Amino acid sequence: SLVVADTGDIEAIRRYQPQDATTNPSLLYKAAQLPQYQQHLKDALAWAEKSGGDVIAQASMKLAVSIGKEILQIVPGVVSTEVDARLSFDTRASVEYARKLIALYEQDGVARERVLIKLASTWEGIAAASVLEREGIHCNLTLLFSQCQAVACAEAGVTLISPFVGRILDWYKASTGRDDYTAADDPGVLSVTRIYEYYKSRGYPTIVMGASFRNTGEIEALAGCDKLTISPQLLQELQDDDGELAEGLGGDITAQSKPEAPLSEA
Ligand code: E4P
Repeated sequence: SLVVADTGDIEAIRRYQPQDATTNPSLLYKAAQLPQYQQHLKDALAWAEKSGGDVIAQASMKLAVSIGKEILQIVPGVVSTEVDARLSFDTRASVEYARKLIALYEQDGVARERVLIKLASTWEGIAAASVLEREGIHCNLTLLFSQCQAVACAEAGVTLISPFVGRILDWYKASTGRDDYTAADDPGVLSVTRIYEYYKSRGYPTIVMGASFRNTGEIEALAGCDKLTISPQLLQELQDDDGELAEGLGGDITAQSKPEAPLSEA
């Protein structure tokens, strides 16, 4: 698997040298507290005040792009920048927001090919991605918890999906009260495995990037997936385990994460 850093923290990205990076509003909020981004924050606010409209929304958009641009100085691949989650059930507003993000990147000299627009995998988000992909704006469909969302994304021709692991486990633990999962029967790992296998058996070109990890066991179980986006804390734990983070995480997702009873038979 290609390693992707799930952070807006530039120092962490320098340290772990991932292929790509993914951001989301809460990661950017955290990153915005870092000393190296204080000037970006001031510039984004000044820009938003001049642009008019909702200053906070405008400043967040501008800040996301300036942090994304910084990240692209370091990673060789792409950066994911998310559309405001409040628009997740509005296709037209999501498309407009994504076009604005791409226009801001392009004004700053960044080619659209280096950006993935992150959208929630709602019906409306997937419809927005289908429009954007036809304009050459590549999309990363996030908050993806099920095979039917994954199939809808592939049929819409999206560039990449981020099926979640940890949030499925969080839900499972909270709803069953159980806390005795291993990577082999972790419901989040099983969900991503099933999606990955389905995609590969159908020959879908959409990239599968496992996301939302809670421990290194989940990451190791999904090694071999196209990409994995991992927080700096877990990247550090992987490095501590292996000495160094290899170019990527090798492995065969199909062999490593076969559940005792395949989900298809459950
Ligand atoms: C990445 O694309 C996601 O935003 C991230 O992995 C979510 O992780 P969380 O479930 O820990 O918030």
